[in-house]
Amino acid sequence: MINVAILGLGTVGSGVAEVIEQNQNEIKKALGDNLHVKYILDIRDIPGVVNDINIIVNDPDIKVICETMGGKEPAYTYTHLALERGISVCTSNKELVDAYGVELSAIAREHHCSYLFEASVGGGIPLLRTIREACGQEKISQIAGILNGTCNYILTNMKAGKDFATALKEAQEKGFAERNPAADVEGHDTARKIAILASLVSGKKFSYEQVECEGITNITPEDFAQAEAKGMSIKLLGVYNAENSSVIVAPFLVKNSHPLYNVNDVFNGVMLHGNMVDNLMFYGRGAGKLPTASAVVSDVIECAKNIGKNINNKFADLAPANVNKFPAKNPGEKFRTL
Ligand SMILES: NC(=O)c1ccc[n+]([C@@H]2O[C@H](COP(=O)([O-])OP(=O)(O)OC[C@H]3O[C@@H](n4cnc5c(N)ncnc54)[C@H](OP(=O)(O)O)[C@@H]3O)[C@@H](O)[C@H]2O)c1
Repeated sequence: MINVAILGLGTVGSGVAEVIEQNQNEIKKALGDNLHVKYILDIRDIPGVVNDINIIVNDPDIKVICETMGGKEPAYTYTHLALERGISVCTSNKELVDAYGVELSAIAREHHCSYLFEASVGGGIPLLRTIREACGQEKISQIAGILNGTCNYILTNMKAGKDFATALKEAQEKGFAERNPAADVEGHDTARKIAILASLVSGKKFSYEQVECEGITNITPEDFAQAEAKGMSIKLLGVYNAENSSVIVAPFLVKNSHPLYNVNDVFNGVMLHGNMVDNLMFYGRGAGKLPTASAVVSDVIECAKNIGKNINNKFADLAPANVNKFPAKNPGEKFRTL
């Protein structure tokens, strides 16, 4: 039996416990052993839940930790502590991966354990592992992704005729948008994710601060009407362009013949272009309790199969990228076209 701990019993953390409980048979087939949640840590006083990280990292039974607290602190300190003791950490925390992923990956390698973050980009879509393991032979020239389900839901409703404020309110009522939606609608969440993807495929560290970022708040129903008249839609995309080493988050016009055109509602879609394989398209739920938790558990299984070894997540050696301006819009146009 492999003992694990979950840090942060919120949406994703409770999902991790549920996936491990509900899919125990499938996990046993994949791992050849059972996973057991020995500890859950949270800031709240809940029966059976611990508040002190030292109880977890001092327990030699704990081999893998799921960090689903979010934010930089104390997630950074707790992750650091665990990795230094040879305990692998699997996370959904894109903010931490963007800010400290390189450092934490190097610590993991030094201590013969792993730092994996499949759930941090594209929620349940098995994206990072596929890029890492199945696309190593490819020279990837472009990544374009719908990486934020909240924005995509709002834009799908705007395409149907609603204005931004009405579409946002509806997304909030349905629980798809936070009360403070700035990180989503201003594009910052997408920026963190495209920075992680660009880093993974380029071999250089792109950070969130280097991403040119424009959100969806200035898009009007008239913009949609004009796009539709030209057989296009408007999507918030994160785009990495290898040719001139640039990354952007911005609303793009997408033609109705493009596979991303039909990625609607809260779904995410990511398209890669490799020089040998040509286009690859990934589609699925980019957020939500169980899809995101499923991705965390996929990392836990990989770590549990590799106890005492470091899984090369391709982040430990990344030097900062030289980032250029993304190719400009055509004069007089409000949006770029994908
Ligand atoms: N939700 C999604 O669909 C989704 C998808 C992909 C990635 N993610 C990422 O996954 C991470 C977690 O997201 P979430 O939606 O699950 O957040 P959440 O529901 O707010 O869960 C975070 C949990 O951690 C607890 N916590 C906060 N600070 C803590 C501390 N100092 N010590 C112990 N526990 C602490 C919180 O307790 P309190 O509630 O008392 O503060 C809460 O229970 C974030 O980085 C997020 O970006 C989420």
